Amino acid sequence: MRLGAVIALCVLPALAWAQGPAPSSTQPPPAYGLWTGAEWERARSLSPLLPPPLNPTNALGDNIEAARLGHELFFDEGLSPRGFSCASCHKPELGFTDGLTTGNTIEPLERNVMTVLNTGHYRWLTWDGARDSLWHQAVVPVESPVEMASSRLHVVQYVMRRYGARLRKLARLPAGWEALWPALPEAGKPGDPAYDGLPGAQKDAVDTVFTTVLKVIAAYERRLASGASPFDRFVAGDKSALPVAAQRGFQHFLRFGCDICHNTPLFSDDEFHNLGLASEPVADPGRLRGLETVKQSPFRGTGRFADAEPLVRPEDYRSGAPLEGAFRTPSLRELEQTAPYGHNGSVATLEDWLDHYVAVTNGEVTDFAGRLDAALPTLRPTDAERRELIAFLRSLGSDYASEWTREPRVGPR
Ligand code: HEC
Ligand code: HEC
Repeated sequence: MRLGAVIALCVLPALAWAQGPAPSSTQPPPAYGLWTGAEWERARSLSPLLPPPLNPTNALGDNIEAARLGHELFFDEGLSPRGFSCASCHKPELGFTDGLTTGNTIEPLERNVMTVLNTGHYRWLTWDGARDSLWHQAVVPVESPVEMASSRLHVVQYVMRRYGARLRKLARLPAGWEALWPALPEAGKPGDPAYDGLPGAQKDAVDTVFTTVLKVIAAYERRLASGASPFDRFVAGDKSALPVAAQRGFQHFLRFGCDICHNTPLFSDDEFHNLGLASEPVADPGRLRGLETVKQSPFRGTGRFADAEPLVRPEDYRSGAPLEGAFRTPSLRELEQTAPYGHNGSVATLEDWLDHYVAVTNGEVTDFAGRLDAALPTLRPTDAERRELIAFLRSLGSDYASEWTREPRVGPR
């Protein structure tokens, strides 16, 4: 008796904290629209999407002036000697994607361009989680010979020439930098003699300023966020926001187990799963290689370019699930704008995505790397269930336009 009372005292406040104002135990939560009390509780765990947490590895993450400068840099084709910007592939009007199967500036990439909207929420960036912060992620497109074909030496000098005064106000640049940067070689990155030949201290100064520029871009990316979708407005109490078909679609979403992985208001568990997409254009090892890459990168959150200890240490990452052919669960917000789908962009429409699900979970597709995630429920939806599920997925789109999504007005240099 006494022990029971003690447990109740300890447990009840904890539950109330975890679930918000909980109904008393004798009274189930009220039904809402078509949903039962239990479905309503699940819906409330998926909305609203709050602003992303701060990433301690980026001291500029919440700095508004950094975000304004980052906004200009994101659209600035001068960062690349070939004239490509981040926005060449991440176009605001296409949900910050490019609408292509795989990214293509200089030549076709192996992966589909991901949206930048809401990416401040993820611990692991890119399809295989090979980067652990937004600023760390940006190293790759800048220096990849098939994306922007630029280099850290080009970037630091271009930014100093064009935006130097603003960068100096945001961050303390390395000692001796003002004398050093105008004398550096015009271009170069690791692997190029122009960069490899620099003394260690100069390389270090270049890398520090380069990562500062990328942190400025990340401060901008953090502000790219979805608006309130019809689903969010319905959960917030606007009963006219969600048509009956989409309300039913949400019930199927739960019944089919989609929220095993597409959970939290981001609709992603930020984890890696094998969904059995075909091995094209290449057999992609996914998280298996991504985890090794992130652990070895000098720009990881536990590396010396981070401003503070990260919330997650890549070295501590453990997964019970097999990593081969596993990719990060993408958010399901803004799907209307971000087609085609999947890490290789091989799925054109949401209807095709469901076709793939049904086929792969019923054993009709076997041409893929690794093994299908054991958590994937076998799916056999009726035509009506398919339509309603897709109506629900579409209800997760919003008007995400804001001052941050427009091409920036460029002030005097
Ligand atoms: C050539 C096209 C291209 C360019 C240019 C490009 N990206 Fe990307 N971006 C991609 C592709 C493809 C992916 C997926 C990469 C992967 O999984 O390996 C991606 C992924 C990302 C992600 C990860 C999103 C997530 O959910 O994990 C972010 C953030 C991002 N890019 C930001 C940028 C920034 C910032 C720039 C400019 C410095 C940039 N990109 C330039 C094609 C591009
Ligand atoms: C076991 C975890 C898991 C479950 C369960 C799951 N998904 Fe996914 N989903 C993923 C992963 C991982 C991807 C990316 C896979 C890839 O590209 O290889 C994905 C991709 C998607 C995409 C493509 C999004 C894009 O931007 O490319 C859609 C749409 C989607 N899932 C909807 C659903 C629906 C609807 C259900 C329920 C029927 C569901 N998912 C169940 C993990 C899951």
